[in-house]
Amino acid sequence: MTPPITSAPARVLTPRRAAPADSVRPTRAEISLSHLRHNLTELARIAGTPVWSVLKADAYGHGAKAVARTLERAGSRGICVALIEEGIELREAGVVVPILVMSGHYGNAWPELLRHELTPVLSRVDQVRSLAEEVRERAGPAHGVHVKIDTGMARLGVPPSELESFAGVLRQHPELRLEGLMTHFASAESDAPFVELQLDRFDRATRLLEQLGLRFRVRHAANTAALLAHPRARLDLVRAGIGLFGLAPGVAGVSGLRPAMRVRSEVISLRTLAAGASVGYGATFRATRESRIATLPMGYGDGLSRALSNRGHVLVRGRRAPIVGAVSMDLTSVDVTDVPGVQIGDEVVVLGSQEGPLGSDTLSAEEIAAHGGSIAWEVLTGISRRVPRFYRED
Ligand SMILES: Cc1ncc(COP(=O)(O)O)c(C=O)c1O
Repeated sequence: MTPPITSAPARVLTPRRAAPADSVRPTRAEISLSHLRHNLTELARIAGTPVWSVLKADAYGHGAKAVARTLERAGSRGICVALIEEGIELREAGVVVPILVMSGHYGNAWPELLRHELTPVLSRVDQVRSLAEEVRERAGPAHGVHVKIDTGMARLGVPPSELESFAGVLRQHPELRLEGLMTHFASAESDAPFVELQLDRFDRATRLLEQLGLRFRVRHAANTAALLAHPRARLDLVRAGIGLFGLAPGVAGVSGLRPAMRVRSEVISLRTLAAGASVGYGATFRATRESRIATLPMGYGDGLSRALSNRGHVLVRGRRAPIVGAVSMDLTSVDVTDVPGVQIGDEVVVLGSQEGPLGSDTLSAEEIAAHGGSIAWEVLTGISRRVPRFYRED
């Protein structure tokens, strides 16, 4: 069914994230540009095919503009985003490599997509028709598109049973130039037979489209886990997201990647509690001994998940200290009774590594995710826009 064409073309706006110059609080995310470049090189070496960087959701929380410019200069051959507004943000930042918009929803924004030379991923015939009409009206050259095949994810993509009719509609629209075929894996990190099944389906769909007279330059399927663990999935290019940021959740034996984000704050308050005293909203922590409690200015409003209340840890002076009481919107309490010498102004690391006088330790996004019942992707993208990103070369 063709959805109704709504009124005027959409104007796409982008929200603003806190910039370093706005920062008064010591809570900040530090992004290592050299680690990003290293990870890109490492993934390209392993894959042996071009890497297109998946930089949706503000480059997984790392800041899309800076990350895109860095990776483009370092050799990323394309960029994938979810939303049109994400693509526009990158074009306005000067990115010139192809930008693939993958989310499948383009609303009434074809004019914006064409104007910014973004490449849509199509999987519905009404999208083929309405985009072709827009290109025809502008009397512009044929616009490049990728088509997604649903091989088992069942979210987006042309179902195999509808491929023939989809191809028929696409062939009737010379305004669109088919550049790529793609699919997406449901369980690349955990279910090898399912990856093989999806690849078999993708191969079958490819042969059918070729028999129906369609031609395309590239086929792609692999996310980070698939490119690392399934050589057959590497095809003509790989779409790497989390690996660029230094993580390979669920893939064993990957040692060459370097986490790109570190989140740090500082102790802004310190107190000694008597045994029996409670901490925070709902008094969910009660001291069983005389305790030293430090407060840091970061809470769930910044992306420190409330699920870490009485479960997670931070690093102070190079040593782990447990989060105690409920994480609140702007503040979190930690028990530093076993971390001697803590003072106001001491650095507190919430994500990443710290070296201090008492040792050195690391809190990985995977570990934090496991404590909070989440996944590393959500931990990274969850660092909210009020936390300024500071870019570093080391
Ligand atoms: C279609 C698509 N391709 C590639 C990726 C990159 O996945 P990863 O971050 O696991 O590398 C994503 C991320 O969710 C995606 O949605």
